Amino acid sequence: MYSALDHAHSGLRWVALLLLIFAGFKALAGWLGNKPYQPLDRKLATFTVISVHLQLVIGLILYFVSPTVSEALNDFGKAMKNPALRFFALEHLLGMVVAIVFVTIGSASAKRATSDVVKHKRTAIWFLLGLLLILAMIPWPFRAEGIARGWF
Ligand code: HEM
Repeated sequence: MYSALDHAHSGLRWVALLLLIFAGFKALAGWLGNKPYQPLDRKLATFTVISVHLQLVIGLILYFVSPTVSEALNDFGKAMKNPALRFFALEHLLGMVVAIVFVTIGSASAKRATSDVVKHKRTAIWFLLGLLLILAMIPWPFRAEGIARGWF
């Protein structure tokens, strides 16, 4: 169960990242180029939100079955002094939840906007902020030992 979820969570990162990059930069171009907000823009935003919400759900389950997190939760005080345990027990969780809130705000506030340029602007700002935070909180293979995980 842990291994399957871990693989799903790891692979789905690429779907979420590609959607965020595509939707975020398309919205930026729409905002700066004063382009009409089309049905495809709404669809893209919806799929982007779904992909990060799915990551949230898998991540939350993973949190309770991960051997790394369970080691951290056994002695939380001690884990806070260990960068790898602190990363998975606290930093990854908090950073990703904030990033997912950013993406959700972007999509919901764009939906409520009445002009096309404001829809693009809100999507671009919140999605690209979320993207930056997600990129910063992924345990990339080049991160410190203990934090680093694979590409897939
Ligand atoms: C868009 C959001 C997220 C992305 C892109 C993401 C990405 C990743 C990646 C790439 C890994 C490494 C998987 C591997 O190769 O082993 C990972 C691990 C993990 N993530 Fe996330 N994550 C996200 C959100 C979350 C959230 C919200 C939580 C918790 C509520 C979470 C909990 C975990 C846990 C517990 C691990 C595994 C630790 C371990 O046992 O190695 N993730 N995440």
